[in-house]
Amino acid sequence: MIGHPIAHSHSPAIHTAAFEALGLADEWSYEAIDVPPGEFSERVGELPSRGFVGANVTVPHKGAALALADTASDPAGEIGAANMLSFSRGTVAADNTDAPGFLAALPTSPAGARALVLGAGGAARAVVWALVREGATVEIWNRTAERAERLADELGAASLRVEAELPSREFELLVNCTSVGLDATGSDLGLLHLTAEEIGPDHVVVDLPYGATDTELARTARERGATVVDGFEVLVRQGAASFRIWTGVDPPLDVMRAAARR
Ligand code: ATR
Repeated sequence: MIGHPIAHSHSPAIHTAAFEALGLADEWSYEAIDVPPGEFSERVGELPSRGFVGANVTVPHKGAALALADTASDPAGEIGAANMLSFSRGTVAADNTDAPGFLAALPTSPAGARALVLGAGGAARAVVWALVREGATVEIWNRTAERAERLADELGAASLRVEAELPSREFELLVNCTSVGLDATGSDLGLLHLTAEEIGPDHVVVDLPYGATDTELARTARERGATVVDGFEVLVRQGAASFRIWTGVDPPLDVMRAAARR
């Protein structure tokens, strides 16, 4: 796992637990490497000769990862970011498992659903791409409306919402792709223009920020009877997708989930 900063990444624990559970820990290992922006290409270039078959890539390197690869999967190319690299015979292949990881975390297919995506950064890009591709009707809200507009234009999302109070009831799927909820600086719901009364049992709420405690959004949605998918589940599903590509083995999801929360 390459990022900057990287010390708090849960991914080494998640992958290591899966290697151990499958009896692969003698053959495989997964580590976190802190690489500052200016050193990304050079440090990635050294990895194959050190025995690495691939790398996960996180903030701020996902664009650089796509740019340095020799080939890119459709999701990576269309999203414009890679969170995964594979090294084989002198070439580097880029992939994006954020999008399939998000889809795998959903309880049912989003085809035909109305989805409201909150946020317009890198995380939102992968989510909007995945939902549009699966046939959901996607609307985007973002604090900075122009970013939402650009994202909607680029990825073919339906339209964007700018209301002071978002009408959650009109949607089946709510996805928080902002960083709101990571620190308790205010009411998540207020910052996201949501109200508790608009959230109910028919909703699936996906809340990407994860930490030691539930966000206000996740807690409220649970209290209101919604199905809640938290950021740990999406992280695990994304990691599982990378694991499968590198090792060819299906990892034990429950082992990965327990490691993510530990
Ligand atoms: P990432 O790559 O993880 O998506 P990012 O590109 O920094 O990170 O995007 C963070 C998202 O959280 C953005 O949509 C940001 O809104 P802006 O585009 O207006 O900056 C959103 N965000 C961060 N802090 C926020 C806050 N206090 N209230 C509302 N939205 C916030």
